[in-house]
Amino acid sequence: MKLKSVLKRAIWWYQRSKIGMLGKASEISPFTDLRGDKKNIFIGKGSTLCKYASLEVDTIHSENSKIIIGDKTLIGSFVIIRTYGGTIKIGDSCFINSFSTVYGHGNLTIGNGCLIGPQVTIIPVNYGFKDQDVPFRLQTPTLKGIIIEDDVWIGAGVTILDGCTIGKGSIVGAGAVLTKSIEPYSIVAGVPAKKIGTRGQDEHSSESSLIHLNHPNHTVQ
Ligand SMILES: CC(C)(COP(=O)(O)OP(=O)(O)OC[C@H]1O[C@@H](n2cnc3c(N)ncnc32)[C@H](O)[C@@H]1OP(=O)(O)O)[C@@H](O)C(=O)NCCC(=O)NCCS
Repeated sequence: MKLKSVLKRAIWWYQRSKIGMLGKASEISPFTDLRGDKKNIFIGKGSTLCKYASLEVDTIHSENSKIIIGDKTLIGSFVIIRTYGGTIKIGDSCFINSFSTVYGHGNLTIGNGCLIGPQVTIIPVNYGFKDQDVPFRLQTPTLKGIIIEDDVWIGAGVTILDGCTIGKGSIVGAGAVLTKSIEPYSIVAGVPAKKIGTRGQDEHSSESSLIHLNHPNHTVQ
């Protein structure tokens, strides 16, 4: 048991030396894949990166590319986080569920206490496509960025497109494709996502569902 805690401590010190910051009581699974300019990965206190999560920061022009994760945030197994030239900020007490893909092209900010379901795609970029004769990859992309304010719940399988701001306390229903910004406390669903309610103002208030989604007392798997 003692040997296990010594080993755990040694792994923590080693990982801390490899990245920009690793806060006290944070855990990175030895099976987490950290790539690129690791010195631009910053993780606060008491956060967990589970087995097979993958984080990559650009090595070229890396002054604009960072991954910043707050305190007590859980990044699930097989989550992919890639900066692609932008900065990704994830706040405190967030939970990003397994198999989600989080990109940073035009910058992504996720506030505090956000719950992001499994297989969610957050992608703050659109390739340019106006000119028929120029390949997509050679046209100027849009890079407006995505902002997810505090205490937002993103359901399973949601896709969030470039330029969207999700207001504080909102819910994005499972399977939605969000193409536009939404006001605080909105409940939206569908493809493209449309407003189906406002939290606390009608029968679509989902407080009871939220009770079951407390941040799990997690360990690195
Ligand atoms: C968005 C959500 C919270 C709404 O819950 P609710 O307020 O109880 O909504 P209701 O079930 O009363 O449905 C209200 C209407 O919206 C529709 N609707 C609800 N969720 C929908 C969704 N995800 N996509 C499309 N339509 C949806 C319902 O069909 C219903 O339509 P109707 O009035 O025409 O019959 C819930 O449906 C949802 O998607 N939860 C996400 C679950 C999840 O992914 N969890 C991951 C945990 S990490």
